[in-house]
Amino acid sequence: MARLTGKVALITGAAGGQGTAEAELFLREEAAVVLTDIDSAAGETLAQRLTRQGGQVVFLRQDVADEASWKEVVATALGHFGGLHILVNNAGTIARQGIVDTTVEAWNRTIAVNLTGACSA
Ligand SMILES: NC(=O)c1ccc[n+]([C@@H]2O[C@H](COP(=O)([O-])OP(=O)(O)OC[C@H]3O[C@@H](n4cnc5c(N)ncnc54)[C@H](O)[C@@H]3O)[C@@H](O)[C@H]2O)c1
Repeated sequence: MARLTGKVALITGAAGGQGTAEAELFLREEAAVVLTDIDSAAGETLAQRLTRQGGQVVFLRQDVADEASWKEVVATALGHFGGLHILVNNAGTIARQGIVDTTVEAWNRTIAVNLTGACSA
């Protein structure tokens, strides 16, 4: 028996990398999956592929650093699938410059996405 039958999972930053792998894994375990990402084109393409493969999938554009977006995402998950049981706070970003070249704006954006964004859920 699949381990996530009847569960609904929200995965942020799902349009690429580990988020996509997590989505594929959760779908294999029969969860319904809400995918979010700032990259709408990649997210929509992924959602179409996974839906063609039989998954219960919905994609929403979301910037996790935008607190208001969480309400919309949760409301969509509840409206679409009738529940929300699992959150994978996967979205993240990294500033690859050294400390001397890192601007305050880049620092603040990293904190907003990686820390505040994860806490806004
Ligand atoms: N890959 C690694 O070795 C590694 C190691 C430690 C931690 N992590 C963390 O794991 C997570 C996934 O890593 P990955 O390698 O798949 O990263 P990745 O860069 O390949 O994918 C990150 C995804 O998050 C999305 N994203 C970025 N900012 C966002 C925002 N503000 N709102 C919504 N989506 C946003 C991107 O568009 C992308 O699709 C990240 O949080 C990363 O920091 C990764």
